[in-house]
Amino acid sequence: MSNQRRPLIAGNWKMNGLRADAAALADELATLRKSQPDAAFDMLVCPPFTVMETVGSVIENSGVFLGAQTSHTASNGAHTGDISPVMLKNAGCAHVIVGHSERRTDHAESDSAVLAQASAVIEQDMIAIICVGETEEQRESGKALDVVRTQIIGSVPSNATAANTVVAYEPVWAIGTGKVATPDDVQEIHADIRKTLASKLGQDIANGMRILYGGSMKPANAKELIALSDVDGGLIGGAALKAEDFWAIAQSCPSQ
Ligand code: PGA
Repeated sequence: MSNQRRPLIAGNWKMNGLRADAAALADELATLRKSQPDAAFDMLVCPPFTVMETVGSVIENSGVFLGAQTSHTASNGAHTGDISPVMLKNAGCAHVIVGHSERRTDHAESDSAVLAQASAVIEQDMIAIICVGETEEQRESGKALDVVRTQIIGSVPSNATAANTVVAYEPVWAIGTGKVATPDDVQEIHADIRKTLASKLGQDIANGMRILYGGSMKPANAKELIALSDVDGGLIGGAALKAEDFWAIAQSCPSQ
């Protein structure tokens, strides 16, 4: 964590949450966030589309941001089942996750598809959270740095800035498994991501851009991870579904 970058604690609710539970979770988080209005971190929840309106109305004016888990690239049109960035903006979203490994796998999203989504999100003045990360096999064969470099080069738009883009490093083998990358491995790859961003976007933009860690982040490991010099917060799945845990992770951010 560098004090030039404000930490972001982002909850990816994935395909979880019916109206009553989602509203209750959002309400607990809104109350907690309002209890510390000056705390030096951004907090974001990304619920499923079906409860976005419910969650959005509960967290309004609480300081908790609303985000989405994916977006189409077009503004509107004949794309059955898809949701456009214009609709997400209209629904109150400030951020959109793009290129999560579950989307890359389940929906065959390529780096160029992720780049197009990120561009469409940025075009609507929202923040794109671009996910990258290697599989277990790629890590074991020593290819993690190369895989992630290729994803960064292929998925981050050339007009990305520290204000409109966040990168999330999520090793696929750590997502939902309870396995966490070691702090040394996380710092190594985050520093390398920042170097790749610098070569693509320039050093100043790279220095200001937030890089989140994701993959089994919990209250018990968050402090150590967020303290690493190139880790600027977390993208949290399982632990984001319990207000107490998600808030405890947020409390691991250094107070300024
Ligand atoms: P996890 O998920 O925290 O449940 O590992 C993280 C993510 O997929 O964003």
